[in-house]
Amino acid sequence: MSQLYISSHPLVRASLASLRDRQTKPAEFRRLVRVLSYLLAYEATVDLTTRDVEVETPMGTAKCGVLTDRVGIVPILRAGLGMVDGVLDLVPDAQVWHVGMFRDEATLLPTEYYNKLPNPAPITLALVIDPMLATGGSAVRACRVALDAGVERVKFVALIAAPEGIERLASAHPHVSIHVGAVDDRLNEVGFILPGLGDAGDRQFGT
Ligand code: PRP
Repeated sequence: MSQLYISSHPLVRASLASLRDRQTKPAEFRRLVRVLSYLLAYEATVDLTTRDVEVETPMGTAKCGVLTDRVGIVPILRAGLGMVDGVLDLVPDAQVWHVGMFRDEATLLPTEYYNKLPNPAPITLALVIDPMLATGGSAVRACRVALDAGVERVKFVALIAAPEGIERLASAHPHVSIHVGAVDDRLNEVGFILPGLGDAGDRQFGT
């Protein structure tokens, strides 16, 4: 069974309160997506591996660590784009692999329209990012893309999630850990998260 991590950080809770607010405008919405992505990725990267190094400071030699994991960020377009910079702030050397997917409004099934991945995968950990985990269809597909590219460790990071999406992702990819800012009540009949935040893509990009 997948590990599910629900952040309890007060800054995540407070940022989500503003993000959900219907009055929040796109510029502030984008800033909040970036902050939340940083905070959630910070928690999701707690097990990155490091190698000991010695660094010459102006005063002497310090025992330090450098990352040995090679991280890839996999944003699900379009809404996942707004999360990239927050994660890159933490892991500036990460590769960014774009996966384009939209959800058919009638069937709720994801349609893949773009996929820019190197082959074979030169990374040891993929962070698949999308603000929302609703039915889970997009997340399941994007994680499959990363796994098929040969990545051994895949983590999925979302700002909010519906229980239905968590269950679907966990059952499709039991080894993918799931990191979220909050778990909401349920999906409505057209696949929107309740109470949710509306459409993360539209609210970021003012469409
Ligand atoms: C939204 C969201 C996820 C997906 C979640 O994207 O950003 O990618 O829906 O739904 P699911 O869990 O049921 O698959 P959308 O398809 O609206 O495309 P967009 O990012 O281009 O707005």
